[in-house]
Amino acid sequence: MIIVTGATGQLGRRIVEKLLDRVPATRLGASVRDPDLATDLKARGIRVRQGDFDNPDSLRTAFEGCSQLLLVSSNAAAYGEDPLAQHRTVIGVAREIGVKRIVYTSHMAASASSAFPPMRDHAATESMLDRSGLAWTALRNGFYASSGIMLMGDSLETGVFDAPKDGKISWTAHADLAEAAAIILAGNGRYDGPTPALTGSEALDLGDLAQIASALSGRTISREISSDNDYRAKMTERGVPPRSLDIALGLYLASRSGEFASVDPTLEQLLGRHPTRMRDLMAETIGSSR
Ligand SMILES: NC(=O)c1ccc[n+]([C@@H]2O[C@H](COP(=O)([O-])OP(=O)(O)OC[C@H]3O[C@@H](n4cnc5c(N)ncnc54)[C@H](OP(=O)(O)O)[C@@H]3O)[C@@H](O)[C@H]2O)c1
Repeated sequence: MIIVTGATGQLGRRIVEKLLDRVPATRLGASVRDPDLATDLKARGIRVRQGDFDNPDSLRTAFEGCSQLLLVSSNAAAYGEDPLAQHRTVIGVAREIGVKRIVYTSHMAASASSAFPPMRDHAATESMLDRSGLAWTALRNGFYASSGIMLMGDSLETGVFDAPKDGKISWTAHADLAEAAAIILAGNGRYDGPTPALTGSEALDLGDLAQIASALSGRTISREISSDNDYRAKMTERGVPPRSLDIALGLYLASRSGEFASVDPTLEQLLGRHPTRMRDLMAETIGSSR
């Protein structure tokens, strides 16, 4: 049985849906914090069980009979919690109950020396997996395109996209990453350890996004660069805590040094089609906000 954690989240839910095209529902399970949010999955014949990364007993029940576990990386850091403790718990329970392989949603820039803190957590989780004795795959996912659209904030209304100096990023759609994950899960063992970077087919910086948004919306959005210090001061004034600020600024530092710039053909090869373009995703968002 393939069990997907985070199946009520944006990526996990899409992975389950893409798996349904490839694997009988009776061989799929969802491990979710709140089963009431997964009644639609249950209705489609998927086993839904409550599983919380902070509660090993719940995971023992949720993972019962699991041969491959798709571990969606936790978003706990965004809430001041420790994703590594949660990943350690998940891996420990998986070992204990005899899971054969863990497929983990890592990141293209996973590295212990990244300027962007979440990348260090991904690297640490990959090390845990490596030491676990289990077979494992790390999906080296590209940077979410939705994050780039979120970074644009209210620039569509103000006409100004003000942010620190950045670098090119090979933005990638959730739907494409979910489909690749389903393909890899359905072909059990296709990759051992980290995959090549699973990225979109072009790398664009925030200036490029401002230009695309201008063309799509018909109004000029100018990209302005604030210094790191000014950005820090502005965010502090808005009440952003120092830890969150380090994460936010880390993204700019890392992109500036090219951590997210590589473009790799593996995602396209897995999907058998071009990955979704950033400008098409932006068109959907900008179209729906007008
Ligand atoms: N590649 C990138 O550029 C990028 C960007 C941002 C984040 N990420 C990583 O990718 C992950 C998935 O992205 P996403 O867009 O699907 O995010 P998301 O919608 O926030 O999903 C996160 C999932 O983690 C689950 N979760 C959190 N704490 C948990 C716990 N204690 N026990 C069990 N499940 C828990 C959440 O459960 P609920 O559904 O119950 O809330 C949710 O389903 C994120 O969590 C983050 O680690 C990657």
